Amino acid sequence: MDRIRITGGRPLRGCVHVSGAKNAVLPALAASLLTDAEIRLDRVPAVRDVETMLRVLGHLGVDTERQAGAGVTLRARSLTDCEAPWDLVRTMRASILILGPLVARHGRARVSRPGGCAIGERPVDFHVEALRALGAQVSQEHGYLEARSDGLRGAAFTFERVSVTGTENALMAACLARGETVLGNCAREPEVTDLAQLLIGMGARIEGLGTATLRITGVESLHGTRHVIPPDRIEAGTLIVAGALAGEDVEVEGCRPADLQALLERLRYCGVPLTATDSAVLVRRPSVLGAGGVTTAPHPGFATDLQAQFMVLMTQARGASVIRETIFENRFMHVQELRRMGARIRVEGHDALVEGPTDLSGAPVTATDLRASASLVLAGLVAAGETIVHRVYHLDRGYERLDDKLRLLGASIERLGS
Ligand code: EPZ
Repeated sequence: MDRIRITGGRPLRGCVHVSGAKNAVLPALAASLLTDAEIRLDRVPAVRDVETMLRVLGHLGVDTERQAGAGVTLRARSLTDCEAPWDLVRTMRASILILGPLVARHGRARVSRPGGCAIGERPVDFHVEALRALGAQVSQEHGYLEARSDGLRGAAFTFERVSVTGTENALMAACLARGETVLGNCAREPEVTDLAQLLIGMGARIEGLGTATLRITGVESLHGTRHVIPPDRIEAGTLIVAGALAGEDVEVEGCRPADLQALLERLRYCGVPLTATDSAVLVRRPSVLGAGGVTTAPHPGFATDLQAQFMVLMTQARGASVIRETIFENRFMHVQELRRMGARIRVEGHDALVEGPTDLSGAPVTATDLRASASLVLAGLVAAGETIVHRVYHLDRGYERLDDKLRLLGASIERLGS
């Protein structure tokens, strides 16, 4: 398994370009199941989770083809299977996103229940409840979810709790349900809005984009379209935090600062000098970094996917910070690794109390999940000496060549074989 070695202390400067959003392309790929026409997606990031989703779709009989640049074409002309097997789903729980489109268009879907992961149990009850509200029969046996329907019907359904992929599954299914559907307490993440825009491009009728209430008028069928995947706001946020840690003058470009307001507000509160345009953020480390607390929340609140990265920054801040994780029950796995690098962090339930500033020292550390692995790389940028991050396959699931991008900014970082 690959490892990444970082030698800390190098200043970062220059311009770095943000790749397409992993969490936007995964539902977009699943949406190809809703039509037998061709879907063309551009700015698709070369990350492991995309490869896994393409394998899942290929297993179902979808023709998929990588195009020049970062394009992918998909055509679900004649499906040969309606089951996402355990050995694929276990590597990527977002495979659950095929459930809604498959049952809506083909009347049957069988998906291995995605297991939990390092950050939590990750149940899928909201997905099941939403599809049942739309008239699907959903059973759960032998570790599989099986959904059947002889035609979904529009319904009113309100999510008990905000769920990103739960909203996306229900939204895709409702596009082909007969009649009107009103989904309440929907996730408002930009990736959900982007999926709705893709579906509208395919002929779906959806209102309320960007709000917590989505109104869908079902249609008989959907046609093909071409769609550009938006920039990855979590990658952008990760790179902006890198600039706040070690930047002299870093430009994170090709991003959407409007989708990062919660992060930018916290960074400014802590004294980080930032300039944001429509599509870029200029950032550098402040002479004095102040401490600042944060509580994760559904969008437009502070993204849970940026919590670990912000925690690393707070180890360098002058004072105490409380970081409260409200989305997942176990998303502090990075704390024990950061403590091994000298960070002073105490976990009390959903709160991590960070004392700073702390001189971090390089150490061999182990990645446990996607965003924790990114936080360990960020810590290595400012730690004295050498940090070796193990199990970087976690990182490669959701970041396109993050080590190369940081090296281009001046970091001393390289990938080591196993
Ligand atoms: C999406 O996961 C993202 N993944 C996650 O990003 C992100 O952290 C998360 O949303 C929150 O923003 C993709 O979009 C592919 P949820 P998702 O359903 O949809 C509970 C990354 O690093 N819940 O919004 O699985 C759940 O346990 C990944 O890129 C239920 O109880 O998250 C969690 O506590 C990590 N029952 C909360 O709701 C359900 O049926 C929010 O989960 C579904 C969720």
